[in-house]
Amino acid sequence: MTEPLIDPFQRAISYLRVSVTDRCDFRCVYCMAENMQFLPKKELLTLEELDRMCSTFVGLGVRKLRITGGEPLVRRDIMTFFRAMGRHLESGALQELTLTTNGSQLSRFADDLYAAGVRRVNVSLDTLDEEKFGRVTRWGRLPQVLKGIDAAQAAGLRVKINTVALKGFNEDELHTLVDWCAERDMDLTFIEVMPMGDLGGEDRVGQFWSLKDVRARLAERFTVTELTKRTGGPARYVRLGETGQEIGFITPLSHNFCESCNRVRLTCTGELYMCLGQEDMADLRTPLRASEDDRVLEQAIRAAISLKPKGHDFDYSRQEAGGQMTRHMSHTGG
Ligand code: GTP
Ligand code: 5AD
Ligand code: SF4
Repeated sequence: MTEPLIDPFQRAISYLRVSVTDRCDFRCVYCMAENMQFLPKKELLTLEELDRMCSTFVGLGVRKLRITGGEPLVRRDIMTFFRAMGRHLESGALQELTLTTNGSQLSRFADDLYAAGVRRVNVSLDTLDEEKFGRVTRWGRLPQVLKGIDAAQAAGLRVKINTVALKGFNEDELHTLVDWCAERDMDLTFIEVMPMGDLGGEDRVGQFWSLKDVRARLAERFTVTELTKRTGGPARYVRLGETGQEIGFITPLSHNFCESCNRVRLTCTGELYMCLGQEDMADLRTPLRASEDDRVLEQAIRAAISLKPKGHDFDYSRQEAGGQMTRHMSHTGG
């Protein structure tokens, strides 16, 4: 039996998030600068290398794999990789294969994703207003995303919507979003904006809309009950009595969930980030390329996990973007 991956704080690492590309067809204002410099393609792990890397993690006890980006569905031939990971679902080694997407390519790929074994997708959507959608994504088209969501549901995929709570931007749409998701039987999670990436003049403190306030506003209209369920993700959930709907809150800034963290993140260039909010990382591309022997890679992974920090340093409480990360969210895949 292989030893599972346990970090210095006795947390078992069973969840790997994998960014397969830093590119995206949108430029959400809190995520990317308009003129983002993307990595040269030769820096990226090939699909074969991604397969070998992820398969090694699965061999070490990773049970949940979430594919992210950038936008994972803009990577050429990405379905080959999904199908390759699907074989770990068939063998029972992997319990869940899933992705976080902006939805723009979902109408093309929904059926293939289902066929590869994906059953759930998280789609990022901050507004239901076409003009505002164009503004927040800089040039994204809302109808294309809505078509993608329809296609995902028609293919049998369960859809969860991720909405970044942005002060002065989608505060007025709270109830519209909740109702829209309820009608379509979709879960909805709100995310507090995190200080990732230097986007040049973005006012993060001003954009910050606390989820405590979102929750209080929901309580004005619904009976809100706290749920104890955990999905293995960082969200805390409540149920709305009147609709039966579950609403998630990801509040890394106002609620620290690091103590139960079960995840690490692999970038598209093969760096392993041990925490979303820390710069600590290990280069796994070098050991991967240095030897055909998977044990070399396994050792490098174990050495990396032994460096996982206790928690992150994000802090808005001093009314400054303390712990501001220069790394972009698209680099580590959220
Ligand atoms: P499920 O619970 O499986 O639905 O997924 P998830 O919430 O882990 O994944 P998703 O990609 O939908 O995550 C949504 C957002 O939550 C990410 O893009 C990040 O912004 C944030 N997030 C996810 N994991 C972490 C984490 O470990 N730490 C922090 N601070 N934020 C996280
Ligand atoms: N803060 C919070 N969430 C972010 N995302 C991207 N950048 C940020 C940020 N700075 C979210 C997207 C998507 C997920 C992949 O990450 O909206 O839901
Ligand atoms: Fe692309 Fe997602 Fe970043 Fe928006 S948040 S630019 S959709 S990676």
